[in-house]
Order: sequence, then C-alpha cells, then structure tokens
Amino acid sequence: MSPEELLAEARQVAENAYAPYSGFRVGAVIVADDGSVHRGVNWENAAYPSGTCAEASAIAAAVTAGFTALKTVAVACIDAGTEAETFPCGQCRQRLYEFGVETVVVPGTDGAAETYTLDELLPHGFRLLH
Ligand code: THU
Repeated sequence: MSPEELLAEARQVAENAYAPYSGFRVGAVIVADDGSVHRGVNWENAAYPSGTCAEASAIAAAVTAGFTALKTVAVACIDAGTEAETFPCGQCRQRLYEFGVETVVVPGTDGAAETYTLDELLPHGFRLLH
C-alpha cells in the first residue's frame, strides 16, 4: 500500500474511534514485515487515563495476530481542525520502536501523506539491555 492509501485507511478506521471526551478521533494502520495490515483506534474512558491511543490499539491487533516485526504506521485524526500533522505521541513512538517500525506516515498541513522515519521522531529510543 502507498503512503496515501495507508493514510486513507487510517482516516477510514478513525470513524470507529471512541473519543467522546476529547472529540479527537484517531485511526492507525500498521503494516507488518509480511505485508499484513493491522488497524487500531483510540478508545477513551470516563476515568481519563484508562483510555488507549490508536497506535497502541493497532500494535495490540498486530501482536494478537502473531506479528511482532512491524514496518510502517500511518496515523490520522479526522476531526475538524485536527486533520493535519497528527504525529504519534511520545509514548506511542516508544511503543512503535519496540516492534521495529521504521516509517511513520502522517498528514501534512495540506492533508497529503508525509513520511518520516521513526528515528527522526524518536532518536535514541529505549531498549532494555541485559
Ligand atoms: N491519541 C492517539 O490515539 N494517538 C496519539 O498518538 C495521541 C493521542 C488519542 C488519545 C486520546 O483519546 C485523544 O487522542 C486525545 O489525546
């Protein structure tokens, strides 16, 4: 899938987000190393910290399906005024780093797909050495 196709897919899946508190519906689409595609949305809770980011949901879907070598993620928010430049939060950058994600696709200010490396967004990510 092209970056534009992945972004379109992220926008589509964001329709299923559960975000009654923030009004910020996010979709994430992850491509694993075999080309399989895994989707996630943010889902919130009245006890605010109990919610989950879209990227975390997509990682959970990929890992649940047996994929832990992940390549690319596309992330998009579909709510008015927030459609551009919805970068993954810091915690999600570290979550993506764990599974080897290399490429991050987000909408630019014009809404078109922009591609970054995870290394650009999270230099020196944390690894547990032991
Ligand atoms: N959110 C994501 O889904 N991904 C991010 O990378 C940042 C934030 C969600 C969490 C919450 O449901 C809403 O966006 C507002 O923070």
